Amino acid sequence: MQARKVDLDFSQAKVYWNPADPEYCQLLNAISSMLPDLEGLLIKAVRDTVPLLPASTAEEFRRTVRLFVQQEGRHSRMHKKFNDMLVAEGYDWLPGMIAKMRADFDRFHATKGPKFALAYSEGFETFGPLVSTFFFERAGVLMADWDEPTTYLWLWHFAEEYEHRTVCNYLYREVYDDYWYRIYAFWYATIHLFGYSFRVALRLLATDRRRGRIPASAWRSRLNMGRVLVKLFGFMLPKILLNCMRPSYDPARIPQPKHTLAFLEAASQRYGVAETA
Ligand SMILES: [Fe+2]
Ligand SMILES: [Fe+2]
Repeated sequence: MQARKVDLDFSQAKVYWNPADPEYCQLLNAISSMLPDLEGLLIKAVRDTVPLLPASTAEEFRRTVRLFVQQEGRHSRMHKKFNDMLVAEGYDWLPGMIAKMRADFDRFHATKGPKFALAYSEGFETFGPLVSTFFFERAGVLMADWDEPTTYLWLWHFAEEYEHRTVCNYLYREVYDDYWYRIYAFWYATIHLFGYSFRVALRLLATDRRRGRIPASAWRSRLNMGRVLVKLFGFMLPKILLNCMRPSYDPARIPQPKHTLAFLEAASQRYGVAETA
C-alpha cells in the first residue's frame, strides 16, 4: 500500500465528463461534493481510535492506518479541487448544501462520540471495494476514458479505497467489536450519504434542464437516473446483503478488482509516492 501524490488538473474539466450520460455524471458529481468533508470525518474518526488500540497491535497495521490517513487526505484535496470547478459552473446553491453536510459531520464528531464516528466511517468504507469493483469491472463505457481527469479521479480514488478497505473495519473490530451497532451505523451512513447525493444530483439536473443544458423533459432524465441507480445498486446490494451484513464479514477477502494493480502502479510512476508518516 502506498500514498500516491496524484495531482489532477481540472481547469479543462467538464460537468458532463462523460457526455453520453449526464445523469451518471451528476450523480457522481453530487457524491463528490460531500467527499472532502466526509473524508475529513474519516480521518478524525481513525485518528481518535488509534490511541484506543491495544499495545500489542502490530506495527504493520499501524503503518496501514497512517497510509489510510494520507490517502484520504489527498482524495479530499482532489475532490475539493473538482468541486470548486463544479461550483464555478454556476450551481450557486451547491455551497449551501455542502455546508449543511459539513455541519452534520462536525456534529457527529463533536456529539455522537468516537464509536459512532468510526462505525459511520466503516459504513462508508464498506462501499469502497464494491464501488471499486463496479468502476473497474462493470461500468464499461461509463469509465472507459482514463485520460479524462474526472474519470481518472474516480478510478484512482476507488482503487485506493480498495487498497485500504480493511482499516476502519479492523480498527472497529479491535476496539469495539459490536456487530449490531456496525449494522445500525452502516444503514445510518447509507441513508444519510446517498439521501444527500440523490437530492443534490436531481437538483443539479433540474438546474441543467432550466438552463437548456439537457432536454427539458424531466421524465426522460428521471428514467435515465433510475437506470443508473439500478445498474449501480443492482451490482452492490446483493453483495451488501449476502456478505457485508454478516458477522463474519472481512473486507480483506473481497477479490482484487481487475486492472487496479496495474492502474495504481502506473499512478505511482506518474505522480510519485509520498513518504510514509
Ligand atoms: Fe477516499
Ligand atoms: Fe477510504
